[in-house]
Amino acid sequence: MKIISPSLLSCNFLNIKSELDILENINNLWLHLDIMDGHFVPNLTFGHSIIHKITKYTKHPTDAHLMVTNPQFYIESLQTSGIFNITFHFESCNNPKELIFLAKKHYQSVGISIKPNTDIDLLSNDVLKNIDLLLIMSVEPGFGGQKFIQKSLDKIKYFDNLRKKNNFNFVIQVDGGIDDNNAQKIFDEGADNLVAGSFIFNEKNNDYNKQIHKLLIE
Ligand code: DX5
Ligand code: ZN
Repeated sequence: MKIISPSLLSCNFLNIKSELDILENINNLWLHLDIMDGHFVPNLTFGHSIIHKITKYTKHPTDAHLMVTNPQFYIESLQTSGIFNITFHFESCNNPKELIFLAKKHYQSVGISIKPNTDIDLLSNDVLKNIDLLLIMSVEPGFGGQKFIQKSLDKIKYFDNLRKKNNFNFVIQVDGGIDDNNAQKIFDEGADNLVAGSFIFNEKNNDYNKQIHKLLIE
């Protein structure tokens, strides 16, 4: 099943409740929460209190993308937040397997993310077989509104083939620069879950439903 994850990074922060209300009746959505620490990436977003409020308010599964230097702190301190999926960056940990198992104690779904220039051979099968989600970044993490990096398409295909060959269960999520020109191609290469921020929330009449459906048209 194709899932769209609107990234709240691009929503109207002065009006989050109304933004969530527009999304509430659309099916097959996750809500993507970009959590930044101003260190792993040079930007800051949501703190714990607002994350708790969003997860309690929405009926959609919430999806935390940790762009932080110390993922263990966030995995532990957000454990009562109601977040459905938590994803941390491969580049920010020494022992990914240890963190995966720690996160699995508290979250229904655990993901690992890779930046565009990370050597994919470093990601061992031993890690891949234990995750629920692989987040392939198609822009450098940190900011919305960047251009999709085309070579991400080959990477999606590579990991889709690898999971078929090995019967891995992870979902492939892609994040960054996604719009109605590239969404279908990204799904075709093997992605299951597309994160989109500016394409959805920059719609001038707040018709996010229309934008989400444009990403799903074959
Ligand atoms: C970037 C974030 C993305 C971002 C995507 O670091 O991880 O989730 O919000 O925004 P767009 O869709 O505008 O590229
Ligand atoms: Zn993200």
